[in-house]
Amino acid sequence: MKKIFLIGFMGSGKSTLGKKIASHLHLEFIDMDDYIELKEGRSISSIFEKEGEEYFRVLEHEALKELLGKENVLVSAGGGTPCFFNNMELINASAQSVYLKVEPEMLLGRLKGATTQRPLLANLSVEELRLQISEKLAVRESFYLQSKIVHPSKGSPNKDLADLVAILSH
Ligand code: S3P
Repeated sequence: MKKIFLIGFMGSGKSTLGKKIASHLHLEFIDMDDYIELKEGRSISSIFEKEGEEYFRVLEHEALKELLGKENVLVSAGGGTPCFFNNMELINASAQSVYLKVEPEMLLGRLKGATTQRPLLANLSVEELRLQISEKLAVRESFYLQSKIVHPSKGSPNKDLADLVAILSH
């Protein structure tokens, strides 16, 4: 029985990589944001816009508890999931947790063209985005580092995939 949570900042590749790792390990793949959107019948952006971030964090906490009840899954957590309530403690109590650690400049490169569907990054200039990444990472890294496995990304999706499949297949 396996239950794996992929942790990391927005743009770290949790979903893309998670999907591939799950397929290699024959696990069901669940993206937490997709799970919340399906359950609520609306997008994360619309939840943020209409109800605010605090409300979203409660939904996220509830979704996390539901997902922790599943077996044989690989879940890609939202970038903020580990940093609210006792979420990281809950994850570590019953799942394997993996922090996909990506350098801020690489996150910036990936997030530049992908801010519209991310309410925390919407409408930021490149400089504002750089600042937002470094400020948020400074606060969040201590939560991410509570993961049982810390994987510094090699910057090559294929290499990361091979490394993580090898680490997680035991
Ligand atoms: C968030 C990350 C997003 C999503 C929401 C908030 C965050 O998920 O949950 O927009 O606080 O970092 P991804 O990390 O999958 O983009």
